[in-house]
Amino acid sequence: MCGIKVIDDQHKGLVDLVNDMFNHVTGEEEEEQIYLNKVIEEAVNYIKVHFATEEKIMNATKFQGYIEHKEEHKKFILTVAEHIGYFKSGKRVTLMSFSKFLKDWVLSHIAVVDKQYFVYFKEMASQKADGCFSISLEDGEEILYSSANPGGF
Ligand SMILES: [Fe+2]
Ligand SMILES: [Fe+2]
Repeated sequence: MCGIKVIDDQHKGLVDLVNDMFNHVTGEEEEEQIYLNKVIEEAVNYIKVHFATEEKIMNATKFQGYIEHKEEHKKFILTVAEHIGYFKSGKRVTLMSFSKFLKDWVLSHIAVVDKQYFVYFKEMASQKADGCFSISLEDGEEILYSSANPGGF
């Protein structure tokens, strides 16, 4: 939990998606491949939306690690595109291997790379008397950080 609801919700959504993928590992190869064909695009779209949200917020708060973080996101999208390329060209990509790859990446990215901006936001909030601050995005949207959020990092 980082204290920004939209990010925390998206991270939870990502973990739910990965769990759902593991739940579809049945050992029925044909069934798994039909599901993988559907979920692979869904996963990429979800992840792209999440990356865009994080990048907007990091940019708006002038987070120093923004460029490197964005680069990590880009590298990941390229790696996933490679997996999709294999899959679409008929090479064997199993639901188990793709789910495992996604799980490992998502968990380590949140724990190591995302954590850097969690710490930064917490520092920003600690300078405010009420532990809250708001972020104005380019599109006029206001994002609220509250260290009082349950599980706030
Ligand atoms: Fe993230
Ligand atoms: Fe990230």
